[in-house]
Amino acid sequence: MKATKITIALLILSASAYSQKSAPKKIKPKAEFVAELMAKMTVDEKIYQTVQFTSDGTVTGPKTGDNYITRIKQGKVGSILNATGAKATREVQRINLESSRLKIPLLFGHDVIHGFKTIFPINLGMASSFDPKSVELAARDAAEEASSSGVHWTFAPMVDIARDPRWSRVSEGSGEDPYLGMQYGIASVHGFQGTDLSKYNTILACTKHFAAYGAAEAGRDYNTVDMSERVLRDMYLPPFKATVDAGVKTFMASFNEISGVPSTASKFLMRDILKGEWKFDGMVVSDYTGINEMIAHGFAKDEQDAGQLALNAGLDMDMVGAIYMNTLKKSYDEGKVSIAVINDACKRILDVKYDLGLFEDPYRYSDEKREKETLNKPQFLNDALDVANKSLVLLKNKNNILPLKKDQKIAFVGPLVIDEFHIIGSWAAIGDRNGFAVSVKEGVANVLGASAKTTFDQGVEIESTKRDLMAAAIANAKNADVIVAVMGERENMTGEAASRTNIDLPGLQKEFLGELKKLGKPIVLVLLNGRPLTIGWENENMDAILEAWWPGTRGGDAIAQTLFGMNNPSAKLPITFPRNVGQIPIYYNHKNTGRPYLGPTDPEQKYKSKYIDVDNSPLFPFGYGLSYTTFAYSNLKISAPQVKFNEKLKVTVDVANTGNYDGTEVVQLYVRDLVGSVTRPVRELKGFERVALKKGEKKSVTFEISSDDLKFYNIDMINTAEAGDFEVFVGGSSDADLKQSFELVK
Ligand code: GLC
Repeated sequence: MKATKITIALLILSASAYSQKSAPKKIKPKAEFVAELMAKMTVDEKIYQTVQFTSDGTVTGPKTGDNYITRIKQGKVGSILNATGAKATREVQRINLESSRLKIPLLFGHDVIHGFKTIFPINLGMASSFDPKSVELAARDAAEEASSSGVHWTFAPMVDIARDPRWSRVSEGSGEDPYLGMQYGIASVHGFQGTDLSKYNTILACTKHFAAYGAAEAGRDYNTVDMSERVLRDMYLPPFKATVDAGVKTFMASFNEISGVPSTASKFLMRDILKGEWKFDGMVVSDYTGINEMIAHGFAKDEQDAGQLALNAGLDMDMVGAIYMNTLKKSYDEGKVSIAVINDACKRILDVKYDLGLFEDPYRYSDEKREKETLNKPQFLNDALDVANKSLVLLKNKNNILPLKKDQKIAFVGPLVIDEFHIIGSWAAIGDRNGFAVSVKEGVANVLGASAKTTFDQGVEIESTKRDLMAAAIANAKNADVIVAVMGERENMTGEAASRTNIDLPGLQKEFLGELKKLGKPIVLVLLNGRPLTIGWENENMDAILEAWWPGTRGGDAIAQTLFGMNNPSAKLPITFPRNVGQIPIYYNHKNTGRPYLGPTDPEQKYKSKYIDVDNSPLFPFGYGLSYTTFAYSNLKISAPQVKFNEKLKVTVDVANTGNYDGTEVVQLYVRDLVGSVTRPVRELKGFERVALKKGEKKSVTFEISSDDLKFYNIDMINTAEAGDFEVFVGGSSDADLKQSFELVK
């Protein structure tokens, strides 16, 4: 008994010692503390808080390049980008505090996009789970790791609505839908920031890229955006607003212009909407040299012009551009920027430093002991597997070829079958690309053990025209019962500055599939990619297709567990798969037009909004995804035929598991506003729920719709719902055909 008491006492002592080590000294409340600090600061010192430099660091920690250290020693830096590592950040912070007259700590930022050391599926993959809890869990684990490694601030979530898979950054977001994007953004902010930013395991989130970056013309990264304010507000801004309501503390401006004004200096976006209408009290950082780029945009005549335009428009911090450092004091002296806007920017930056507890303990995030205990924690690795299993989308499964049987002879082929490098995708922070991630081959071995009757051959490379490996792969495939082809893109064919005009499987991969097809054996295609691909031929010729995106550190385990039925795929597409590039932009929440084409049964086949060479329908629609089991929807009911503006409409539906496997279905609710003062989309996602059903089980699912859910920017640009007729659709994709109608009445 006594020993136990001593043990408990020791545990309490060590825990309190641990917390005391990071226990902050008490300082005054934020408003008072920041006001007193600013009262002591010179104009120069206030301007230097708005300056961010990169550590020239790689993601494994900063190389100590001299320029940013020199500037820190001159007291000219408020934040550092890309410095990671408890030891490295502690050293940089020490240098800063020794140079800082007023001991103002540096803010360390890094792109922790889908994991820090333990890498989760890319965001488009996590969005496929339609599971905000998984998104929040991934962000929470990432914050635990990053905050133990000196990182105070992540440049995530990226909530750019994306309707064009040529655009390489579709991989970083949650696809084409505003409602899904809202849920994704909220979950991410909650995961990263938690409920108390002063805790040492919570970090600042940063909603980006503000705004409409994903609408770049022709899907070419950084390209021009031109859209009506109505489309901007109805389709692109809701996820941004949702994160403000969720308490996000920072935003990042986007590189693009919108209708002639670069976001980096858009008063409309940053002062009128973000800080005005939405009452955002956090801080806005530019994207990387975004201020400098206004000269190329033709919006600023020189760096000083660019700097004063940006600051006056509400941009608080200059990422890496050195323009605020070099020109703001001159602009201030010349009366081009006021002390009020300088004070506003500086205060917003000091406020978030205060929120993080950095004034109380500037080193609290740079704790080597905690870092060692936290990175790649088994729990995080298990979470990464669980989230990956929920992110795989089954696109085709002819004759239920999947799941595979463990005693089958299986030929695994393809350029990504043994890959441990690409599998964690782009923007993978300090994720290990040298063997730590689980390849498909390793995942299969973990399921089958070494005795399996399996072969593994690359056959072709991702992009090269080399054919020398093909013959050996085909020879092995000849002896197999089933072929599994693991194919896709290089990880850096998506992410920043990697747009493609041709989104087929690259290289000779399709040719190799054609050779394999000649063997007359069933072929399962597993895709590892960061965007929808044009896979029409593959859909015709493969027996099964599993869209795995970039599934992360445990990706090979998730793929293998899914192929062999230990995991029943449940994910749905967060973005439309086009039949070909010519259909782009193609998305489910489109307008009807005056001549809607009703498909092959349309009595009018000529004068309709259609193509003469390809059907209007996508290859796979938004919200689509199969399971190893089947689900049947029935009994769609609404609580009343009419609903008032201050009432809620209940929508209920029965969902039954009618197949042979336990599974989970993402039940989706869509609404159509039939007539408006402006035209309305043919469908809009307004609810979804993951419903687990054992085989044979049936459940009733209920959604609620209020008039708030039906709001849009009307002909007078007022955000309101309008009385009139509506339809609701419920089902397992945006093609859901179970329908009811109701009327919204004053
Ligand atoms: C990049 C990206 C942005 C990222 C930032 C910092 O250019 O556009 O998403 O957060 O720079 O790395």
